[in-house]
Amino acid sequence: MALSRLIINNFRNLTSVDLELSHGFNFLVGENGSGKTSLLEAIFYLGHGRSFKSHISNRIIHYDYDHFVLHGRVDEAKHHWSVGLQKSRQGDTTLKINGEDGKKISDLAHLLPMQVITPEGLTLLNGGPSYRRAFLDWGLFHQYPEFYAHWANLKRLLKQRNSALAQVRSYAELKVWDIELVKLAQIVSQMRANYAEALRPEIEKTCQFFLPELEISVSFHQGWEKGADYAEILANSFERDRGIGYTMVGPQKADFRFRANGLPVEDVLSRGQLKLLMCALRLAQGEYLVAQKDRQCLFLIDDFASELDPTKRALLAERLRQSGSQVFVTAITKDQLSQMQWQEQDNDRLFSVVKGQITPLE
Ligand SMILES: Nc1ncnc2c1ncn2[C@@H]1O[C@H](COP(=O)(O)OP(=O)(O)O)[C@@H](O)[C@H]1O
Ligand SMILES: [Mg+2]
Repeated sequence: MALSRLIINNFRNLTSVDLELSHGFNFLVGENGSGKTSLLEAIFYLGHGRSFKSHISNRIIHYDYDHFVLHGRVDEAKHHWSVGLQKSRQGDTTLKINGEDGKKISDLAHLLPMQVITPEGLTLLNGGPSYRRAFLDWGLFHQYPEFYAHWANLKRLLKQRNSALAQVRSYAELKVWDIELVKLAQIVSQMRANYAEALRPEIEKTCQFFLPELEISVSFHQGWEKGADYAEILANSFERDRGIGYTMVGPQKADFRFRANGLPVEDVLSRGQLKLLMCALRLAQGEYLVAQKDRQCLFLIDDFASELDPTKRALLAERLRQSGSQVFVTAITKDQLSQMQWQEQDNDRLFSVVKGQITPLE
């Protein structure tokens, strides 16, 4: 599965882009501010219905226009899909898959699994637990079709509970709601725990490849004390939850932590090592999906060279090549291509990005 054609109109400084893409490596080379990250952002938007940079879509629409349009052609061995997404300043979103209206963003996301590696993405390691929950949930979403409904219901129930906290006078009024919440919390947490456990050996293997000098270990925390009864915890923390206005303990606090030689990675690793670890995690997870579901995963790698020495860059390139995935890589200069094992004879594609204009260089 790969994105074989991409059309972009009025997405940031990309006013008019139409690209035939390689199913292998696609390199985007251009100066600062030329539009490289915007292109990755557009691909991400097509696969998620949102940006990895800004939550305000009006910031993404080109200053001079009223809406942006994205069109993609997705090829799989025997099928292909055409995907179209349009977003206006008024907030209207139109989404079409194979010309059909009424599709949901989650339909879109199932079609195009992708992993993003950006300099800002280090929050996966040094940011709050929400980034690591999102990492785990990504895998669950793509691997288990039933996960999304559980997750969405859990989120809705928690939201309702938090608003109800301000209105009820005693726990008895809340308890009926909590029965369903506890059930969902257990399902979601068990799925996360199983998935984390299945992914662990893949992560350890990939870390061994990128960071052989370190012993990386991972651990999943469900968000409340292991072995404790979540229903009891909710009942006991009612007064405190009511005081602060939200539910303090539960699956909404789950975490997936990483340690290097027994210490939290964010405290002991250099930025380069953190970047490598992030690459290892995202590669391990993408490859695991491919192995389990026989589906491809796209990799979007922004500012590929930053923080990495030439040996590590070559290592990353080697691993990406091995995965057989479709890869988008941005760089400021062309001289970094050699480190990406750029192969002119293969189907690699090179694009130059200049002031929002993207042209193939061949
Ligand atoms: N809504 C917008 N409309 C037009 N241009 C924009 C918008 N948002 C950002 N830009 C501009 O788009 C350019 C591309 O940015 P970016 O893709 O981050 O560049 P690069 O990654 O190549 O350094 C920047 O010059 C930025 O000022
Ligand atoms: Mg950039």
